[in-house]
Amino acid sequence: MKSQDIRAEFLNFYKSKKHSIVPSAPMVLKDDPTLMFTNSGMAPFKEFFLGNATPKNTRITDSQKCLRVSGKHNDLEEVGYDTYHHTMFEMLGNWSFGDYFKKEAIDWAWELLTEVFKIPKDILYVTVFEGDKKDGTKLDKEAYDYWKKIIPEDRILTGNKKDNFWEMGEQGPCGPCSEIHVDIRSKEEKAKIDGKTLINEDHPQVVEIWNLVFMQYNRKANGSLEDLPNKHIDTGMGFERLCMVLQNVQSNYDTDVFTPLIREIETITGVDYNKNNENDIAIRVIADHVRAVAFAIADGQLPSNTGAGYVIRRILRRAIRYGFTFLNQKEPFIYKLTETLSHQMGDAFPEIKKQNSLIHNVIREEEASFLRTLDQGLLLLDKVIEDTKEKTISGVKAFELYDTYGFPLDLTQLIAREKGYSINEEEFNESMKAQKERSRAASASETGDWVTLIEDETEEFVGYDTLSVDVKLTRYRKVTTKKVGELYQLVFNMTPFYPEGGGQVGDKGYLEDAHGDVVYILDTKKENNVIIHFAKNLPKHLNEMFKAVVNDEFRNLSASNHTATHLLHQALRTILGTHVEQKGSLVNPKYLRFDFSHFSKVDADQLQEIEEFVNARIRENLALVEKRNIPMQQAIDDGAMALFGEKYGDSVRAIRFGQSIELCGGTHVQQTGDIWYFKIKSEGAVAAGIRRIEAITNVAVGDYFESIEKDFVQVKQLLKNPKDIAKSVTSLQEENTALKKQIEQLLKDKAKNLSGEIKSQLQEINGVQFLAAKVDLDPNGIKNLAFEIGKEHKNLFLLFGAENNGKAILTCYVSKEIVESKNLNAGTIVRELGKHIQGGGGGQAFFATAGGKNPAGISKALESAKDYLD
Ligand code: ALA
Repeated sequence: MKSQDIRAEFLNFYKSKKHSIVPSAPMVLKDDPTLMFTNSGMAPFKEFFLGNATPKNTRITDSQKCLRVSGKHNDLEEVGYDTYHHTMFEMLGNWSFGDYFKKEAIDWAWELLTEVFKIPKDILYVTVFEGDKKDGTKLDKEAYDYWKKIIPEDRILTGNKKDNFWEMGEQGPCGPCSEIHVDIRSKEEKAKIDGKTLINEDHPQVVEIWNLVFMQYNRKANGSLEDLPNKHIDTGMGFERLCMVLQNVQSNYDTDVFTPLIREIETITGVDYNKNNENDIAIRVIADHVRAVAFAIADGQLPSNTGAGYVIRRILRRAIRYGFTFLNQKEPFIYKLTETLSHQMGDAFPEIKKQNSLIHNVIREEEASFLRTLDQGLLLLDKVIEDTKEKTISGVKAFELYDTYGFPLDLTQLIAREKGYSINEEEFNESMKAQKERSRAASASETGDWVTLIEDETEEFVGYDTLSVDVKLTRYRKVTTKKVGELYQLVFNMTPFYPEGGGQVGDKGYLEDAHGDVVYILDTKKENNVIIHFAKNLPKHLNEMFKAVVNDEFRNLSASNHTATHLLHQALRTILGTHVEQKGSLVNPKYLRFDFSHFSKVDADQLQEIEEFVNARIRENLALVEKRNIPMQQAIDDGAMALFGEKYGDSVRAIRFGQSIELCGGTHVQQTGDIWYFKIKSEGAVAAGIRRIEAITNVAVGDYFESIEKDFVQVKQLLKNPKDIAKSVTSLQEENTALKKQIEQLLKDKAKNLSGEIKSQLQEINGVQFLAAKVDLDPNGIKNLAFEIGKEHKNLFLLFGAENNGKAILTCYVSKEIVESKNLNAGTIVRELGKHIQGGGGGQAFFATAGGKNPAGISKALESAKDYLD
């Protein structure tokens, strides 16, 4: 069975059990502060488990793109070394939100594996949770009894909290789980060692393929468990592992999910897979990592220096490094694999096909730039080795290389070893630990449990229609972070505050109660579909009504910039072409920033055209046409662009101003005239194939023009109010150029005259032509003078003193021929005589200069020059 058919078969099986098939949510998460990436199939559904939202269908199935490279689930370092862990992988899942529970989950999993996929029953084992004293949980008897009906008891194992209790994070929904394991070893091996003893023992052919989680508890901040009001099912099957079993191979990398990539790597590098262990690891690392990076870019996460972008950059760098070190790839090559990937995965995940050229370019640029860094790092390492007296390189130095050049220890070790050196690993680890400790301390935070004031109250966002409304506080919690100290997070029954999202910053404002007590709202964010208001203090009268008021100036200016962003997007697609796609944006009251795909610089004429296009739409005063809560398809039929990165369950909102139609949750002006004016401030590159425009609107444009006018008036006054300023400045510049030329000529003439005079003053002392004199020339003139005289004499020693802008300068010239024989070193001489002018300097043995702050000492220095000839 081909992998594509396996995926389809899984989904269709659950469809036949009344599940709706939904597309994978993005791998990059946007509104979950506890998680950067989707690390399991259930992450996109957290809001349903937490009860913050209600799913349209209580039974769902999908194949979710997951990435396990940070936080609680991090497999990065395993990848490549074994044959069954991945950074990015697909998790096949079926969900019940308060619908069926353990019985159906177990029965259907068994039916699918053994009857549909026809996996022999005698290679399967299952595990159930044994219970945990500390948590007060017991053996999951219910699951055990269901399993007992379908599988011999000697194939049911019990497991502890680590293996058989699934938790989403430190807090939140959790529950016991049953895992299904396969043993795909040969008959002979099975005869030697019982498969049962190899479960959860990291054997590459005895692996877990499916985890059935029975969500029934909520873990509170104090660590205790409480029952969830509704019980849920969350299952996750490793797609690549399932393919390994069904395709009858011994490694995930031998399935058709990976073989096309591996064949391509072999072709590009000329290195064969399955010949040498180190090369094999490198090939697996690259085949795995290119998928992770490509899918992250397709989901809108470009490699960068911070946050999720930095994680992606590190994954790619790991692949580059393995290629560099083990496959001898010194030029970019990983980007070449994106074509194969897009062919292979493009049908199931169209985003990878559609964004192929962007992915290709971004990876190529990243590779090129990291390879340059590697080169620099290698030079630095050479220097470190040169400076190292013993045969052990300091771990602190190795850590510096790691920290500033991304040079991991194993690479440094490898290169050092080739040159006969080793690294002090202990020191390296200490430096690493100290740095981790510093960053942990900087970001340490504590989140308390929610304190619920009103049960079962859903929150309503009313901020599209009003900026002030009476609200009740439904729950709150305290968070303490090192950075901002103590804050309170407040949730209301309704709110006019827009939570940060779609590039637009969260609203600010205040709450006021009937007693006149005021609490300021500093920021608003969305977390797992709940709108959270950040306040420094807790309101005094928690159970009373509050008037919640949004800062209208802040909001209106943000809205102005947000609408302008849509018009800018339309302008770019109209003027530059429809290849332009939004790649990121920031909208705040001060300005807007818009990143988009485009292959070259947007030139000045185009920028002007874009600006004019937007301003024309502003002058047309187009009215906002808003459609809320419409199905995605309707919005697309109306002309909105289909965006990747929307998640199942999102009903969309379409925003239209004339011909500009976008899916958007942000806030907007009522008519484009409210924007007043749009002005582009800058255009530049963000990454390969991605440009950025920054612009301002509204009062910011007023301020901008005002400050320009102020400068302009000042310049005009300085120029004595000419009629034509540009002409006046041009003639000043021309005059300046002409004057400069004249000065140059005059100085040349002067030097010529001086040289005649000086030559006549030369004195012969002990076979050396000598002169020490004060001259009235600039440093460059003095140099020319010295070298000109030097052409005529082979035994010259000159010392010139000069004053330049209130500073003293000494210049010494010695013919190369007599430096050694007469023991005259210009560098030494200016250094020594420099003390008379309170300065220092140096240079070469035949020519050197010194500068000082005491012109009065010049004559003393000149007098002393003769002493060198004694
Ligand atoms: N959420 C479960 C897991 O990721 C299914 O293993």
